[in-house]
Amino acid sequence: MIFKYSTIGHSIPKIGVNERLRGEPIFSGDLDFDDALVLKVLRSTKAHARIVEINYDQALKIRGVVRVFTEKDIPGKNLMGIINKDQPLLATHKVRAVGEPIALVAAESESVAQRALDFIEVTYEDLPAVFTPEDALKPDAPKIHDKGNLLFTRKVKKGDVDQAFKGCAVSVEKTYRTVRIEHSYLEPDAGAGYVDEDGTLVIYASTQNPHYDHKEVTGLLGLEDDRVRIVQAATGGGFGSKLDLNVQGFIGLAMLHLHRPARMVYSREESFLATAKRHPVEMTLKTAVDSHGKIIALQARITADTGAYGSYGIAVASRIAMHATGPYEVENVDIESRCVYTNTPFCGAMRGFGTPQIAVAHESQMNLLAEKLAMNPLEFRLKNVLQRGSETATGQKLTHSVGIAETLEALVPHYEWAKTNWLSVETEPWQRKGIGLGSMWYGIGNTGVQNPSTAKIKIDLGGTVTLYTGCADIGQGSTTVLAQIAAEILGIQPQEIRLFVADTRCTTNAGATSASRQTYISGNAVKEAAEKLAGVLLSEAVNKLKVPKSELILEGGCVKESGNPANSVEISLLARRANQRGIPLKWQGYFDPETVPLDPETGQGVPYATYAYASQLALLTVDTLTGEVSVDKIFAAHDVGKAIHPENVNGQICGGVAMGMGFALIEEFVPGHTLSMKDYLVPTAADVPEIVPIIVESAEPSGPFGAKGVGEPALIPTAPAILNALADALGQRIYDLPASLERVLDSSIKAGHFGLKLNIEN
Ligand code: MOS
Repeated sequence: MIFKYSTIGHSIPKIGVNERLRGEPIFSGDLDFDDALVLKVLRSTKAHARIVEINYDQALKIRGVVRVFTEKDIPGKNLMGIINKDQPLLATHKVRAVGEPIALVAAESESVAQRALDFIEVTYEDLPAVFTPEDALKPDAPKIHDKGNLLFTRKVKKGDVDQAFKGCAVSVEKTYRTVRIEHSYLEPDAGAGYVDEDGTLVIYASTQNPHYDHKEVTGLLGLEDDRVRIVQAATGGGFGSKLDLNVQGFIGLAMLHLHRPARMVYSREESFLATAKRHPVEMTLKTAVDSHGKIIALQARITADTGAYGSYGIAVASRIAMHATGPYEVENVDIESRCVYTNTPFCGAMRGFGTPQIAVAHESQMNLLAEKLAMNPLEFRLKNVLQRGSETATGQKLTHSVGIAETLEALVPHYEWAKTNWLSVETEPWQRKGIGLGSMWYGIGNTGVQNPSTAKIKIDLGGTVTLYTGCADIGQGSTTVLAQIAAEILGIQPQEIRLFVADTRCTTNAGATSASRQTYISGNAVKEAAEKLAGVLLSEAVNKLKVPKSELILEGGCVKESGNPANSVEISLLARRANQRGIPLKWQGYFDPETVPLDPETGQGVPYATYAYASQLALLTVDTLTGEVSVDKIFAAHDVGKAIHPENVNGQICGGVAMGMGFALIEEFVPGHTLSMKDYLVPTAADVPEIVPIIVESAEPSGPFGAKGVGEPALIPTAPAILNALADALGQRIYDLPASLERVLDSSIKAGHFGLKLNIEN
């Protein structure tokens, strides 16, 4: 049967776009409730110190200062963290990193709040501090947390690695390093709130997970669930960092004590210093290949620096281990990935949860091995990619959508064109051109744990359909996609649906907008709710139209006989009939991807129900005299299962490539030095080349209409492709990110290219 979708696969106008175009005050920094207090935080200037005393008497004397809070004012449990609770809202007895919050000022104006910070005196007693995992793991290292400095280890063991290395044809062992990265979302962390007539603390926040925020705020403040309501305001970028609590706890604390509205916007410097970063990771990979060019073994030792607090560190270390083989079959593995505390700003979630880091390593290994085997890197990948029926390093049999080969095949014509046509176009004598491939796989949803989503759909007696979803749309367009899914099932237009989104008072938990999970997981929850409601409407129509259910379709707000569309009835009438018979008109959907918990010793299990796959091809030109790299073109082939909204997919790919370029070439967050966007540079429109998105649809049967996800995959292959292109251009590989001007210039000098082609006469 050929089924033509009415909205799935169509790039309808994105929901929320008009409000943005008109500049409406939809972001939390724009919200200003009458009589709102302004909040500011005093932050630690020490990396590791005991707090002896906090004296704020002078601050309280300033006119307009209403109150200063410390940890003593927190009535609930002063610990936060989504996986392991180790982070206080306000420091208790000691600080573990510069930037950690110590005291909260509530004042009548921003300038007064700011001034008050200078009049709070903190007496510290310095403690020895450690700034690298290596130092933190030394036996005599100062303990950052009571349990010690090693937060977590994830192992994946299968087969016999030693035996495989003995029998291999070639092997490569290399160490790769990445650095701390700042998300650099345009909208700094912000929120505003008021106290409802019934005493509920209502907090609007820029967030990726309102239901988690709700749990955390009620826990910190020791309040019953119904005393706190979190509403997601429009969110101007999150990329993982807005999965952690930022302003929500402070706003709640102030409103609880002072019974007044409150607002808080982080300065750019604060957003840089005091929110999560991408983990710096050191990765040593040893990979072996047999004489037929098949990878037979991988040994990996990986250490991630999580800074002073865990945040998503455990998820990052775990996901790195899960993805260390790359999208390839490897029979024998011995992978260990650790996550270590240091006295540095904490690291957490950032687009990809460690997968962008490990992809740099496994994709560099692929090219090094191909070179040793004198094989074309694309063919070498194709020879080793996962296929339907393959078994992963964790022993998972891949039974469904595995589109990695298709993504590589989609690049073949572009790769050939680049090698023959593009490469042969003459450059300036001091320039060198290179082309490079990067591939990836990405498990959709959280790793080996339950991560369900719920949604509700209602039809009222007038026929209006309402969708209730806790899923935070952070700009990627999930609300549009979820409305499309509901509309497709119910035979209406997505624009006709009333929406309640990401408000803990009236929507149920959809889990985090994270791990590229919302289209797949919340999409399925919405689909199930819509199907239940559609079932009610169809059953009513059977009586009314005297046609069996199997011959009925939902279309244009009606139920119709498929062979005789004139025989039809409006869904509003069906809703009224069902209502008269006492049948509910509001239905809930639920979906939790099928996973199997991972064995703690061997990592065997099913970490994810499905995976997205992608391959990108980078074309670039290097100025061998300055080290400047200009990326000329990126082809990006992504297996998303099914593109429910192709323009949204393209948007994710283009944004991901830009972010991946920054990770590859220029970005490095250095505490105390990269204070704001003036010294932490991200790629701009002038740096980003033509990006050619190629959508591959290897339909996933467990996904809504076959969909998987693309949010994080968009970024992951970019840095590996760029690094491989750089190695191609220079004949010299860079192992430490970023491949900065200095590193590229150094490589170019080492490779003997500096000025080599300058043809000076005489
Ligand atoms: Mo992301 S790191 O799943 O927001």
